[in-house]
Amino acid sequence: MLRDFRLQPADIPDFQPQHLEASERDFLKSEIRALLRERDAVLVAHYYVDSEIQDLALDTGGCVADSLEMARFGRDNDAETLVVSGVRFMGETAKILSPDKRVLMPTLEAQCSLDLGCPPDAFADFCSENGDRTVVVYANTSAEVKALSDWVVTSSVGTKVVRHLASQGKKVLWAPDQHLGHYIQSTTGADMLLWRGACVVHEEFKHNALLEMKQVYPYAGVLVHPESPAAVIEMADAVGSTSQIIKSAGELPQDMFIVATDRGLFHMLRKRYPGKRFVEAPTAGDGAMCKSCAHCPWMAMNELGALRDSLLSMGNEVFVDPEIGERAMAPLQRMLDFPVN
Ligand code: 13P
Ligand code: SF4
Repeated sequence: MLRDFRLQPADIPDFQPQHLEASERDFLKSEIRALLRERDAVLVAHYYVDSEIQDLALDTGGCVADSLEMARFGRDNDAETLVVSGVRFMGETAKILSPDKRVLMPTLEAQCSLDLGCPPDAFADFCSENGDRTVVVYANTSAEVKALSDWVVTSSVGTKVVRHLASQGKKVLWAPDQHLGHYIQSTTGADMLLWRGACVVHEEFKHNALLEMKQVYPYAGVLVHPESPAAVIEMADAVGSTSQIIKSAGELPQDMFIVATDRGLFHMLRKRYPGKRFVEAPTAGDGAMCKSCAHCPWMAMNELGALRDSLLSMGNEVFVDPEIGERAMAPLQRMLDFPVN
């Protein structure tokens, strides 16, 4: 039987962002604006990073997006340098899709528990033991794992792609997120063999505590990212990627929502819908009890100072072995070409 690849608490970094005064933050932001212009660079940010980095990205012609839109934006933008503010797999995806561009990150230490929980060697063995299956991997994986796959998907297209494969009679090998895999399996009815990885942030959302919260706020809608456990997903009014959660918050009639995803998303939710109220879904604990409750410790490493430093030195460049990049490009391209509507 496949072993459990979920990370242990000791493997999760205990990252504390540096405290900066407002004047220091303003100074860093003005330096970053100037450097982006000088270096012909564009900022490609994820919704979970520092809210001021999100605003900077939008103000300077970059983007704030989910992982699929980040990949498209980076590929289609003309800037010579992409500065990816997110986690490592996002930087690697940008490099694979744009091998001729320079891709920088505020820090190369920003990992993802799903990527870390899917070592390429063990995954290659899993694929060879199940050679009759179509290999579909989540974007939250290394370039090496993507290179072993037939399809790469993000949570915004995973269900549609697997439904399409199932309609062709294909059996699927899925990695690494077992919760997202289970959600796709139960939605599509596809024959799926699941890797046993998990997101350390979303796995902390608790069903019983959410039931109690719903009793306090019976009129609130529930928005859930599908990396969450099945019992939490079952309570959702809408399930989807970060962008899809934002869209649903606008479309659903409720004016209050309990949100089961990283709290970084609240910045955009509150900006887009100032008349609606958003509260965090309950987790196991906070502070010293939990290093990943409702905020990804690796996303938190994207600090203004680190962003300024990488632009100043043109350091923290992301490299992908060209041969691996070429093999990873085909399954990524399949996702980007897949009709979404
Ligand atoms: P999205 O594609 O929904 O932005 O998800 C990326 C991610 O890492 C969620 O934890
Ligand atoms: Fe990975 Fe979870 Fe962090 Fe997203 S929130 S980058 S899935 S560890």
